[in-house]
Amino acid sequence: MRVVKTIDEVRKQVREWRAQGLTVGLVPTMGYLHEGHASLIDASHKDNDRTVVSDFVNPMQFGPTEDLESYPRDIDRDAQLVEEHGGDLIFNPEPSEMYHEGFSSFVDMTVLTQELCGLSRPVHFRGVCTVVSKLFNIVKPDRAYFGKKDAQQLAVIRHMVDDLNMDIEIIGCPIIREADGLAKSSRNTYLNPDERKAALVLSRSIALGKDMVKNGEKSCETIIGEMKKLISAEPLARIDYVKIVDCATMQQITKLDRPALCAIAVYIGKTRLIDNFFSEDV
Ligand code: PAF
Repeated sequence: MRVVKTIDEVRKQVREWRAQGLTVGLVPTMGYLHEGHASLIDASHKDNDRTVVSDFVNPMQFGPTEDLESYPRDIDRDAQLVEEHGGDLIFNPEPSEMYHEGFSSFVDMTVLTQELCGLSRPVHFRGVCTVVSKLFNIVKPDRAYFGKKDAQQLAVIRHMVDDLNMDIEIIGCPIIREADGLAKSSRNTYLNPDERKAALVLSRSIALGKDMVKNGEKSCETIIGEMKKLISAEPLARIDYVKIVDCATMQQITKLDRPALCAIAVYIGKTRLIDNFFSEDV
């Protein structure tokens, strides 16, 4: 397992693998890897001959008041996890390697990004689409792996790949949770012990919403109302959004009469966490 910093090194390695007829999977990450990322690497290792993990905190997808500077980074720890899970190459570029002086081309999307995280984080998906396109062009993988915790991101990337005729299979992998239910996230490391306890309102509200759907509740307002009530009872929690959207359009719906995504974003102290469930999965 090698860690490389330059685009040329990645291309040279992937060209060698291709010359041997090997398939390549890509797991794009921002590093500080946890079991959620490990499950993506495992899936890629199972499906492909070689796996590349990109480890890059992408400045372009952070807003001016967000946590770009404090986002946790530890490449040695990441390298160990990637090796343990059968990854073959880590691409860990500096921002200047990805965005040279004068960089001025962007990939943006006019649908799917107007709701949920796209609404709360206006520059986010332009940054994600741009960096993921660049990673796809650098690695040219057969398959790329993304977590369903970022459900809107997964939908946006699938749409981009379709719109721009990128010849890459996009694989969505299930949310991985801590034993007590909290969805794994690199940002969980920001939480102090009281906040860590408080953060359980996210998974508890998801469980409540799922139960309501399972029991036949069709009114989105009722489901959202109960979930919000549960979250608001936690003093350290501040709701960014609790919404139910059509899976295909990411637009809000009022009635559960089609495949839907229930997505939440909640601040616990200063830390913004997300979680979700799909109506089809309950
Ligand atoms: O999900 C993430 O970690 C990031 O948004 C991604 C896809 C690696 C792009 O920077």
